[in-house]
This record gives sequence, C-alpha cells and structure tokens, in this order.
Amino acid sequence: MITVFGSINMDLIATTSRLPKPGETVAGNGFSTAAGGKGANQALAARRAGCTVHMAGAVGRDGFAEAALALLKDAGTELGSVKKVDEPTGTALILVGGDGENMIAVVPGANGTVTAADADAAIAGMSKEDILMLQLEVSAPAVERALAAARAKGIRTVLNLAPLIADAARLGRLADIVIANETEFELLAGVDGMDAAAREASLKRLHAETGQTLIVTLGADGVIAIRDGQIFQATGLKIEPVDTVGAGDTFCGYFAASLDEGLDFETALRRAAVAGSLACLKQGAQPSIPESAEVANKL
Ligand code: RIB
Repeated sequence: MITVFGSINMDLIATTSRLPKPGETVAGNGFSTAAGGKGANQALAARRAGCTVHMAGAVGRDGFAEAALALLKDAGTELGSVKKVDEPTGTALILVGGDGENMIAVVPGANGTVTAADADAAIAGMSKEDILMLQLEVSAPAVERALAAARAKGIRTVLNLAPLIADAARLGRLADIVIANETEFELLAGVDGMDAAAREASLKRLHAETGQTLIVTLGADGVIAIRDGQIFQATGLKIEPVDTVGAGDTFCGYFAASLDEGLDFETALRRAAVAGSLACLKQGAQPSIPESAEVANKL
C-alpha cells in the first residue's frame, strides 16, 4: 500500500504556439481544465499502475474540489484522509507551448492548510510494509514531520524534490529514496551546471555520504540512479511530446508502485520511465497518465 501525502490542484491550461517571454502577450489556441497537483498526480499514477493508494491532503469547499478528485475517485483511490477546508482548492495556471514545454504557476490554497498534525494522522494509519510518497507542494514542516514519523515506524519514504523550495536540499536528506530532475539534483548536490560525468560523480559522492537511493530524471534522456553503491540507467520511449505536464509525476507514481509490487529496482526504473514517456502523448496531467496495460505493452 502507498500513502501519498501531498497536493491536490485544479489545472487551468492554455495552449499556445510558443511560450511568452516575461512581459509579452501571446495568442492562445486552446483552453481546458484537468485534475492535477503533484501529490494527486502521483497517487493516480500509482493507482493506475495497480497499487492500493491512500491520498492525504486538502481541498476547498468550492466547485473545483469535486473535479480535482474525480479521477482519483473513479480509479478507486482511498480519499478518507483528504480534508475539506475553507480555503479554495489549489490551482495551477499552466501554459503549454507548441513543442510540449510548459510554464506553471501554482496557487496553493487548501494545500497550504496541510499541517504536521495531518502528517501524524496519515502515518498513524500506515504499517511497516507500506510506502510513503511525498513532494514539496505542501508545507515544509508538514513534509518534515511526515518523513520523521515514517522513519520512526520503519516505513520506506520516497520524496520527489519538486517544486524547488528553499528547504528542498535539507528535506532531501531525510528520505530513503529521492527523485529529482536535473535542476533539483543540482540544488541537492550543491553544484551548478553539471554535465553527465559531474552528475554521476555527485550521485556517488552524495550516496556515499548518506546511503540514500538517488534517482535523477533527465527528460528525453531517461533516468540515472544510484542504489547500494551501484549506478543504474534506464530510458523511456522515443516520442514527440504533446504535453509534458505530469510526466515526472507519472514516473514517481509508477516507480513507487513498482517497488510496492516487489519489482526489482532496474525494472521499476524502466517501467516508470516508459510510463512517463506515455504521459507526454496526451494533454492534461491526470488524463494523460497511462493504465498499467498500456505501459506493459511498451516495455
Ligand atoms: O507536476 C505537474 C503538476 O504541477 C500540475 O498538475 C500542477 O497542478 C502542478 O502542481
């Protein structure tokens, strides 16, 4: 079983032929809404991968709440630890350019009300065999408490170091498994502008210091990781991306689900990378998360 302690958003998405520069206005060519939030996206990915998933977080009492939870509910995710609060449901304003790249501004709303006490409650319902998955879209104190409470119970923790916040490097040291993109990993390692050789050297150095399993996602170049002193690499699929929003979350959810299912580390990385590639082929974070059969067909 996986518990995801994290954010739930409604994504408001405009598509444009190219992303604007600061201060520039560009014409949009489409608008849609979709359920999102890094926590909720990762929960849905783990659920679609086949795991039992509990989501812990918060939504408002507004019109967005039901839509933000709809796909999680349809998929059979446990939502008993999602509280309803007076703050509005979190929103993300997303621009997707013609090349599939994006810009995102997140307004936390209800996600900002998730507390350390909520972390305690979420972890109280878990047992040692479970996996706790977190991101950095709820407050740093709440994430820190969740990591500490899980460690005290011997529960494995997977922290996705996104989005970048001031406390990211410190919190990154507290998880068993850290998943970061290239930029986030540079912050964790305290090194700017790494090439492939510098990245591998930093992975080895950090791993020697902390013993943590570290995973760096590299977009179209796949993923590099270190575990028990060994470097692993995996690639996804060669694709023409339509929309990369939620691809990293799909990777995280599929990876955690694969560990929960008992797959070996290398297979879990490949399965997650393939799932992340497939998530780039459709619009919207949650609507684009593939079902496990689609992923299995591409392995
Ligand atoms: O990682 C993608 C997610 O980031 C979007 O769904 C958006 O809600 C933001 O949280």
